[in-house]
Amino acid sequence: MHNIVLIGPMGVGKSTVGRLLSARLGFQFLDTDALIEERCGANIPWIFDVEGEAGFRLRESQALIELQERKSAVIATGGGIVVTPQNIPLLKALGTVFFLTASVDQLVARTSRDKKRPLLQVDNPRKRIEELITLRDPLYRSVADYVITTDIKGTKGVVGQIMELIK
Ligand code: S3P
Repeated sequence: MHNIVLIGPMGVGKSTVGRLLSARLGFQFLDTDALIEERCGANIPWIFDVEGEAGFRLRESQALIELQERKSAVIATGGGIVVTPQNIPLLKALGTVFFLTASVDQLVARTSRDKKRPLLQVDNPRKRIEELITLRDPLYRSVADYVITTDIKGTKGVVGQIMELIK
C-alpha cells in the first residue's frame, strides 16, 4: 500500500487528522515539518530566523525527497510545500494526495494564538491567510487526488471520509 499525503493551509488540521488516520490504518504517521526539525536540530521559527524562508524551503524539498522511500505512511505536509515547483511531482509520487480545506474564519480561529508559524507573526494574520490561500489554492488543487472540506465535519468525520475514499 502506498502512502496517504495530506496537504492544505496552516491550521486546517493536517497533523490531527493524520495522527488519527494513521492509527485507524495501522500506518506510520510522518510530518514534513517534524522531519525538517529533526534533521536540522532546530525548530521552524529558528530556521526562518537564521536561514530565511528560502532556507526552510530547501530543507522542505530535501525532506520530501527523503520520504520517497517510505511506504504505508500517512504524511502530513507544511502548508507551503506546494510553492516549490519541484515538490509537485514529488508529492504526487508519494501516494494519494488529499487537500484539506477550511474557511478563512476557521483557519484564523485555529491559528490565532499560535507563535510557531513565522508567516503568521504579522499585524494582520487574517489578511496574510487570505493572501496565501489565493496564491496556493490552485497549486493544492493541481496536486490533489481528492479535496475534503473540513469545516463542519470534525476530525473524526474527515478521517471517516478519507477511509471511505481509499477503501
Ligand atoms: C508554512 C506552514 C507550516 C510550516 C511553516 C511554513 C506555510 O506548516 O511548514 O511554518 O508556508 O504555510 P503547517 O501547515 O503544518 O502549519
